[in-house]
Amino acid sequence: MTEVASVLFGREDVRRRVEELGRTITGDYVGREPVLVTVLKGGAMFLADLVRTIDLPLQTHFIAISRYGDAEESQGRVRILLDIDADLADRDVLLVEDIVDTGLTSRYLLSVLRARGPASVEMVTLLDKSARRIVPLAPRYVGFDCPDRFVVGYGLDFAERYRQLPDILEVRDLAALRADPDILAPLITGAVAA
Ligand code: IMP
Ligand code: MG
Repeated sequence: MTEVASVLFGREDVRRRVEELGRTITGDYVGREPVLVTVLKGGAMFLADLVRTIDLPLQTHFIAISRYGDAEESQGRVRILLDIDADLADRDVLLVEDIVDTGLTSRYLLSVLRARGPASVEMVTLLDKSARRIVPLAPRYVGFDCPDRFVVGYGLDFAERYRQLPDILEVRDLAALRADPDILAPLITGAVAA
Protein backbone atom coordinates (compact mmCIF):
# COMPACT_ATOMS: atom_id res chain seq x y z
CA MET A 1 0.00 0.00 0.00
CA THR A 2 1.42 3.42 -0.89
CA GLU A 3 1.57 6.01 1.85
CA VAL A 4 -1.11 8.68 1.72
CA ALA A 5 1.41 11.32 2.85
CA SER A 6 5.08 11.56 3.68
CA VAL A 7 7.37 14.16 5.20
CA LEU A 8 8.58 16.72 2.67
CA PHE A 9 10.18 19.27 4.99
CA GLY A 10 10.78 18.02 8.52
CA ARG A 11 10.46 20.25 11.58
CA GLU A 12 14.23 20.58 11.97
CA ASP A 13 14.67 21.73 8.34
CA VAL A 14 11.82 24.18 8.83
CA ARG A 15 13.30 25.53 12.05
CA ARG A 16 16.71 26.04 10.44
CA ARG A 17 15.31 27.69 7.34
CA VAL A 18 13.02 30.01 9.32
CA GLU A 19 16.03 31.06 11.38
CA GLU A 20 17.99 31.84 8.20
CA LEU A 21 15.11 33.89 6.83
CA GLY A 22 14.91 35.79 10.11
CA ARG A 23 18.61 36.58 9.97
CA THR A 24 18.39 37.79 6.37
CA ILE A 25 15.34 39.93 7.10
CA THR A 26 17.05 41.36 10.17
CA GLY A 27 20.03 42.40 8.03
CA ASP A 28 17.85 43.89 5.30
CA TYR A 29 15.69 45.95 7.67
CA VAL A 30 18.30 47.22 10.09
CA GLY A 31 17.31 50.63 11.44
CA ARG A 32 13.67 50.15 10.46
CA GLU A 33 10.60 48.77 12.16
CA PRO A 34 8.85 46.52 9.64
CA VAL A 35 5.14 45.79 9.76
CA LEU A 36 4.55 42.09 9.20
CA VAL A 37 1.13 41.26 7.81
CA THR A 38 0.04 37.64 7.85
CA VAL A 39 -2.87 35.95 6.20
CA LEU A 40 -4.97 33.86 8.53
CA LYS A 41 -5.07 31.08 9.13
CA GLY A 42 -2.27 29.30 7.29
CA GLY A 43 0.42 31.90 7.93
CA ALA A 44 -0.01 32.01 11.71
CA MET A 45 2.53 29.31 12.60
CA PHE A 46 5.16 30.66 10.24
CA LEU A 47 4.72 34.21 11.52
CA ALA A 48 4.96 33.09 15.14
CA ASP A 49 8.25 31.30 14.54
CA LEU A 50 9.63 33.91 12.14
CA VAL A 51 9.20 36.95 14.39
CA ARG A 52 11.13 35.22 17.14
CA THR A 53 14.14 35.05 14.83
CA ILE A 54 14.02 38.73 13.77
CA ASP A 55 16.22 40.91 15.88
CA LEU A 56 14.42 44.20 15.33
CA PRO A 57 11.45 46.13 16.63
CA LEU A 58 8.47 45.15 14.49
CA GLN A 59 4.71 44.98 14.39
CA THR A 60 2.54 41.97 13.59
CA HIS A 61 -0.89 42.24 12.04
CA PHE A 62 -3.37 39.75 10.68
CA ILE A 63 -5.69 39.81 7.76
CA ALA A 64 -8.40 37.23 7.17
CA ILE A 65 -9.87 36.60 3.77
CA SER A 66 -12.36 34.32 2.15
CA ARG A 67 -12.07 33.19 -1.41
CA TYR A 68 -14.82 33.15 -3.96
CA GLY A 69 -14.30 29.55 -5.11
CA ASP A 70 -10.72 28.65 -5.87
CA ALA A 71 -8.07 31.18 -6.77
CA GLU A 72 -8.20 30.51 -10.49
CA GLU A 73 -11.99 30.88 -10.75
CA SER A 74 -11.95 34.08 -8.74
CA GLN A 75 -8.76 35.50 -10.31
CA GLY A 76 -7.52 35.89 -6.76
CA ARG A 77 -10.21 38.34 -5.71
CA VAL A 78 -11.03 37.78 -2.10
CA ARG A 79 -13.35 39.20 0.51
CA ILE A 80 -11.56 40.72 3.48
CA LEU A 81 -13.15 39.28 6.62
CA LEU A 82 -10.75 40.90 9.09
CA ASP A 83 -8.70 43.91 8.12
CA ILE A 84 -5.52 45.13 9.76
CA ASP A 85 -6.03 47.99 12.17
CA ALA A 86 -2.72 49.74 11.50
CA ASP A 87 -1.96 52.78 9.39
CA LEU A 88 0.50 51.57 6.74
CA ALA A 89 1.41 55.01 5.42
CA ASP A 90 5.20 55.28 5.06
CA ARG A 91 5.73 51.92 6.76
CA ASP A 92 7.88 49.03 5.54
CA VAL A 93 5.36 46.27 5.03
CA LEU A 94 6.27 42.59 4.77
CA LEU A 95 3.51 40.25 3.66
CA VAL A 96 4.01 36.86 5.32
CA GLU A 97 2.51 33.89 3.47
CA ASP A 98 2.51 30.18 4.12
CA ILE A 99 2.52 29.22 0.46
CA VAL A 100 2.31 30.88 -2.93
CA ASP A 101 0.68 28.68 -5.51
CA THR A 102 -0.83 30.36 -8.59
CA GLY A 103 0.15 33.71 -7.07
CA LEU A 104 -3.34 35.14 -7.60
CA THR A 105 -4.17 35.57 -3.92
CA SER A 106 -0.84 37.20 -3.12
CA ARG A 107 -1.04 39.52 -6.09
CA TYR A 108 -4.41 40.72 -4.89
CA LEU A 109 -3.22 41.19 -1.31
CA LEU A 110 -0.11 43.06 -2.44
CA SER A 111 -2.30 45.45 -4.42
CA VAL A 112 -4.48 46.02 -1.35
CA LEU A 113 -1.40 46.78 0.77
CA ARG A 114 0.24 49.00 -1.85
CA ALA A 115 -2.92 51.10 -2.09
CA ARG A 116 -2.36 52.18 1.53
CA GLY A 117 0.71 54.27 0.88
CA PRO A 118 3.49 52.24 2.51
CA ALA A 119 7.17 53.14 2.02
CA SER A 120 7.82 49.60 0.77
CA VAL A 121 6.05 46.28 0.35
CA GLU A 122 7.92 42.98 0.19
CA MET A 123 6.84 39.43 0.62
CA VAL A 124 8.13 36.37 2.43
CA THR A 125 6.67 32.93 1.84
CA LEU A 126 7.69 29.74 3.53
CA LEU A 127 6.82 27.65 0.47
CA ASP A 128 6.92 28.63 -3.16
CA LYS A 129 5.13 26.35 -5.62
CA SER A 130 6.76 28.24 -8.46
CA ALA A 131 5.84 25.62 -11.08
CA ARG A 132 2.16 26.46 -10.58
CA ARG A 133 2.47 30.18 -11.01
CA ILE A 134 -0.12 31.89 -13.22
CA VAL A 135 0.88 35.48 -12.55
CA PRO A 136 4.50 36.60 -12.49
CA LEU A 137 5.27 37.08 -8.83
CA ALA A 138 8.60 36.50 -7.18
CA PRO A 139 8.57 36.83 -3.38
CA ARG A 140 11.65 38.60 -2.05
CA TYR A 141 12.18 35.85 0.56
CA VAL A 142 11.41 32.16 0.00
CA GLY A 143 11.81 29.37 2.53
CA PHE A 144 11.63 26.37 0.22
CA ASP A 145 10.75 25.81 -3.37
CA CYS A 146 7.84 23.39 -3.17
CA PRO A 147 7.09 20.65 -5.69
CA ASP A 148 3.70 20.66 -7.38
CA ARG A 149 2.11 18.51 -4.68
CA PHE A 150 -0.58 19.24 -2.14
CA VAL A 151 1.04 19.81 1.24
CA VAL A 152 -0.30 19.92 4.80
CA GLY A 153 1.12 20.77 8.19
CA TYR A 154 2.85 23.74 9.82
CA GLY A 155 -0.23 25.90 9.21
CA LEU A 156 -1.36 24.36 5.94
CA ASP A 157 -4.66 22.53 5.98
CA PHE A 158 -6.83 20.14 4.12
CA ALA A 159 -10.46 20.98 4.96
CA GLU A 160 -9.28 22.75 8.17
CA ARG A 161 -7.36 19.71 9.35
CA TYR A 162 -3.66 19.11 10.04
CA ARG A 163 -2.50 22.70 10.60
CA GLN A 164 -0.85 21.65 13.85
CA LEU A 165 1.46 19.01 12.39
CA PRO A 166 5.03 20.10 13.14
CA ASP A 167 6.36 18.72 9.84
CA ILE A 168 5.27 19.67 6.33
CA LEU A 169 3.87 16.61 4.58
CA GLU A 170 3.31 16.03 0.91
CA VAL A 171 0.10 14.26 0.07
CA ARG A 172 0.86 11.34 -2.23
CA ASP A 173 -2.68 10.08 -2.56
CA LEU A 174 -4.99 13.07 -2.81
CA ALA A 175 -7.91 10.88 -3.90
CA ALA A 176 -7.69 8.94 -0.65
CA LEU A 177 -7.58 12.16 1.38
CA ARG A 178 -10.55 13.59 -0.49
CA ALA A 179 -12.51 10.40 0.09
CA ASP A 180 -11.68 10.46 3.81
CA PRO A 181 -10.38 13.84 5.05
CA ASP A 182 -9.53 12.27 8.42
CA ILE A 183 -7.32 9.60 6.91
CA LEU A 184 -4.17 11.30 8.21
CA ALA A 185 -5.51 11.67 11.75
CA PRO A 186 -3.22 8.92 13.08
CA LEU A 187 -0.31 11.22 12.26
CA ILE A 188 -1.59 13.82 14.72
CA THR A 189 -1.38 11.62 17.77
CA GLY A 190 2.28 10.95 18.14
CA ALA A 191 3.43 13.89 16.01
CA VAL A 192 4.55 15.88 19.02
CA ALA A 193 6.69 13.12 20.42
CA ALA A 194 8.10 12.06 17.04
P1 IMP B 1 -2.80 31.01 -4.81
O1 IMP B 1 -3.69 32.20 -4.94
O2 IMP B 1 -3.10 29.98 -5.87
O3 IMP B 1 -1.34 31.35 -4.77
O4 IMP B 1 -3.26 30.28 -3.49
C1 IMP B 1 -2.61 30.36 -2.30
C2 IMP B 1 -3.45 29.72 -1.22
O5 IMP B 1 -3.96 28.43 -1.61
C3 IMP B 1 -2.60 29.48 0.00
O6 IMP B 1 -2.59 30.58 0.87
C4 IMP B 1 -3.25 28.25 0.61
O7 IMP B 1 -4.32 28.63 1.46
C5 IMP B 1 -3.82 27.50 -0.55
N1 IMP B 1 -2.91 26.42 -0.98
C6 IMP B 1 -2.21 26.34 -2.14
N2 IMP B 1 -1.49 25.22 -2.21
C7 IMP B 1 -1.75 24.53 -1.06
C8 IMP B 1 -1.28 23.28 -0.54
O8 IMP B 1 -0.50 22.53 -1.14
N3 IMP B 1 -1.78 22.93 0.68
C9 IMP B 1 -2.63 23.69 1.39
N4 IMP B 1 -3.08 24.88 0.94
C10 IMP B 1 -2.64 25.30 -0.28
MG1 MG C 1 -6.49 26.38 3.03
